[in-house]
Amino acid sequence: MIVNLRDICAMAEQNNMAIASFNVPSFEALRAAIDVAEQTGYPVILSHAEGHEPFAPLDKIGPAMVALAERSSALLCVHLDHCEHLSYMRRALELGFTGAMFDGSFLPYEENVANSQRAAEMCAGFDCGLECELGSMGSREAGQRDEGGTAEESGAIYTDPDQAAEFVASTGTDILACSFGTVHGIYKGEPHLNFDVLTGIRSRVSVPLVMHGGSGVSDEDYAKAIDAGIRKINYYTYGVKYAGEAACGLMDKRRAKSSDAIVYWHDLTSAAYDRLVEDFTHVVKVFANGAQPLA
Ligand code: 13P
Repeated sequence: MIVNLRDICAMAEQNNMAIASFNVPSFEALRAAIDVAEQTGYPVILSHAEGHEPFAPLDKIGPAMVALAERSSALLCVHLDHCEHLSYMRRALELGFTGAMFDGSFLPYEENVANSQRAAEMCAGFDCGLECELGSMGSREAGQRDEGGTAEESGAIYTDPDQAAEFVASTGTDILACSFGTVHGIYKGEPHLNFDVLTGIRSRVSVPLVMHGGSGVSDEDYAKAIDAGIRKINYYTYGVKYAGEAACGLMDKRRAKSSDAIVYWHDLTSAAYDRLVEDFTHVVKVFANGAQPLA
């Protein structure tokens, strides 16, 4: 069943939990995310990032995401992640996406506000929930996955709580992506989350808050972030890393037995799918933060 971004985040708010937003730029990831939502009963956000266009074109993956979400028994939002071009956002909305993120975090503040307002007008015309970002994660979702590092190294700028209040009021965004120490990609060392920044934003802003760079964080920090008001957690890099390792591990095992063993493509995609299901199942249960399944 397809759900609006606003409604899925409202469910998270009511239950003091966060919804996993999985980037699904492959059939295996899309299938795994939907299967985990159906098997666990927790809502899930299926995300397509504009930066993944080269290997998952919107006009191919988008209709698949919408059709599979519509016929699923699970509560699923179909969401556009890190969209930097309003023309691209319109294409996703015309396909039936029920959530969209306008990412103006790389723009000067005034331009970020102006473009986020345009995104809000466009989303209103399609009854689509809107996410905007203030502050910066540094490394972009479209960048190399191992660019991540630490928040300092990647040039992250923490969200300013007072500016966040002004930004939400000016743009009318439904949910707010904020920067408080997470980065996209692989962490070098332990991530250091700044919970003072997060609680500062939460005390000034009433819309649900979003954690980007959400994979690679400890289960303890997820729980602390959710208790401090995070309602959507974007998760990609570590899931695909584990899936890649599972596929390569299978190949190594077969080749160790016999150097001329044939490994078929579906052997690799199946190993990746199984590992994604295992990882996503763990993730949605941690993000549920003790809440019972909702479907
Ligand atoms: P990770 O790179 O930590 O998985 O974050 C993904 C993300 O924030 C997508 O928007």
